[in-house]
Amino acid sequence: MYKHLYSHFLNARPQLLHCAPHSHYYWPDVTRSAQLAYWDDSARHADEKWNLIFSEKVPALQGYIAQELHLPDPQQIVFAQNTHELLYRVLTTFPANKPLRILTTDGEFHSFNRQTRRLEERGNVEVIRVPCEPFETLQTRWQEAIASEANLDMIFISQVFYNSGVQAPQVQTWIDAVPANTLVMIDGYHGYGAIESNLAAVADRIFYLAGGYKYAQAGEGVCFMAVPKGCEFRPEFTGWFADFAGLSKAQQGPIQYASDGMRFAGATMDFSAIYRQLAVFEMWQQQGLTTAQRDHYIRDLQAAFLKHIDSCDHAEVNRNNLLQCEALGHGHFFTFRLSDAKTVANIAAQLRENGIATDFRNDRLRFGFALYHNPEDYQQIRFA
Ligand SMILES: Cc1ncc(COP(=O)(O)O)c(C=O)c1O
Repeated sequence: MYKHLYSHFLNARPQLLHCAPHSHYYWPDVTRSAQLAYWDDSARHADEKWNLIFSEKVPALQGYIAQELHLPDPQQIVFAQNTHELLYRVLTTFPANKPLRILTTDGEFHSFNRQTRRLEERGNVEVIRVPCEPFETLQTRWQEAIASEANLDMIFISQVFYNSGVQAPQVQTWIDAVPANTLVMIDGYHGYGAIESNLAAVADRIFYLAGGYKYAQAGEGVCFMAVPKGCEFRPEFTGWFADFAGLSKAQQGPIQYASDGMRFAGATMDFSAIYRQLAVFEMWQQQGLTTAQRDHYIRDLQAAFLKHIDSCDHAEVNRNNLLQCEALGHGHFFTFRLSDAKTVANIAAQLRENGIATDFRNDRLRFGFALYHNPEDYQQIRFA
């Protein structure tokens, strides 16, 4: 139904049903001219292009993202090439020589998981990881952990878990139990652009991370963080973008920071992805593709996919092995946990030979759903 919006990627990879948009979404055609517009603006304005970018492009994108997430203050949104950079910048607001206690889950993406495991090697960092499974009791166990763990400096949890597709306990349901001096960060990468997220009630309390590579369809390089208003943290990992207003002053004395989200900015970056992301928001607007409508379309695709999977009657890829939790809900991809990693790799290879691109991690096979699918496309999925 929406394939015509993605003709460049679809034509470049004919005969392939791309079921890995949760990893890397195809870019809609409008992003191609946006990419060229960035080039043209660079030629037209050269070193003066930063004016255009910071006075027009960045505020426009902040506005769209704020609208998408119901954030009241668009200027609290700061951009970076990836979310890891922003996460690390926040981690450096805690002094390295003081103990640090973080509450999280065992289902967080590699950037966070690797980084915190490395920090634990310091010896003064403690990370408490609540197991995601069983999902049915996660909401209760998570709330119990918040109530029982004292002196937490930081809480970090996904919006939707990358290794299952299951939604995490929603921040609105547990934030009131968190002491005011505990930093709360949500990894919203699998929520942003996919499911409806209303952060209005928590905007002044939480840090929210996400990026354009997945459901926002803009490719790499346009990640962002929403920073609570009035935040006075002083990241040690800081670049010159974090205090534009102060650059013309004498550079001495304590380091100053912008009073909005820019205090967590870094330094020179490639802004072409910001052009692409703007083009995607404009396309959604022109097509009347609200978040609710996109989500609704994906839910229909998921139903069609499961119907087909049922009819395949496969020994491994079936509903018994589907990771799911009705109470918590799902994001825009499904994960099957099979008997072992080798089986998963073999099935993924076989599917790929049959023209179906999936992705897999260890013993988990993931299928994602995109606007550039039609419900009948899943009939192409064969396991032999
Ligand atoms: C939950 C989640 N967070 C973050 C990322 C991306 O991390 P980064 O921006 O550090 O590359 C991914 C990518 O797959 C992810 O699944």
